[in-house]
Amino acid sequence: MKVIITKNYEEMSEKAYEIVRDVIKANPNAVLGLATGSSPIGLYDDLVKAYERGEISFKNIRTVNLDEYVGLDYSSDQSYVYFMRKNLFERVDIDLANTNLPDGKAKDLEAECARYTKLVEGMQQDVQVLGLGSNGHIAFNEPGTPFDSTTHVVKLTESTIKDNSRLFKNIDEVPRSALTMGIANIMNAKKIVVVANGANKADAIYKTVKGEITEAVPASILQKHPDVTIVCDELAAAKL
Ligand code: GLP
Repeated sequence: MKVIITKNYEEMSEKAYEIVRDVIKANPNAVLGLATGSSPIGLYDDLVKAYERGEISFKNIRTVNLDEYVGLDYSSDQSYVYFMRKNLFERVDIDLANTNLPDGKAKDLEAECARYTKLVEGMQQDVQVLGLGSNGHIAFNEPGTPFDSTTHVVKLTESTIKDNSRLFKNIDEVPRSALTMGIANIMNAKKIVVVANGANKADAIYKTVKGEITEAVPASILQKHPDVTIVCDELAAAKL
């Protein structure tokens, strides 16, 4: 596990961007595993700028996203479909047909999880971008999720509902459940880059990098992956 500590969010975004850019340059048909949340927005901005400079193209890129809330309309500005379109897909030359997210509006959620797992296993991410929950979650795999899990429906923990409520009008609007790629689906990626910033991630970063590998801290399993880079700012790295 490689750890890069940066001065601030901008530098964190740039370092993570360079890793993803290199994957795209090496393979214009690459499969990108993508994440939502505030942490990867700068990285997506940097990818858009590189596209605008003509350095990279997303024409033949395929994407799989980690997760989606259950029950939100796609038009809702809190849905992850909306997030991805706004922050990346509509700003580059990607074919939307090549982008994939679990469908939180599916009638049969279990069937949707099985479909998504098959899809993700078939594609295999050349690189998977990950944020980190303050409780050590990755995607929506909350503490206690089995390391061998595949795509599943999760009941969000109070701490995640609270963390994510800052993006909603009020806490009651935060969906109580979500669909998420499982930890095994994430670990199947060829390369993983984690972005984390801010003091509220310091504990999770410490446990991810130096803590015991335990299902109580989902991100701790990353210690076992052969190609992980953690890019975090000084505040998030404070306890290392
Ligand atoms: C949500 C997402 C995670 C993300 C986390 C951290 O719970 N499901 O994938 O990593 O938030 O978000 P942020 O980057 O905004 O701190």
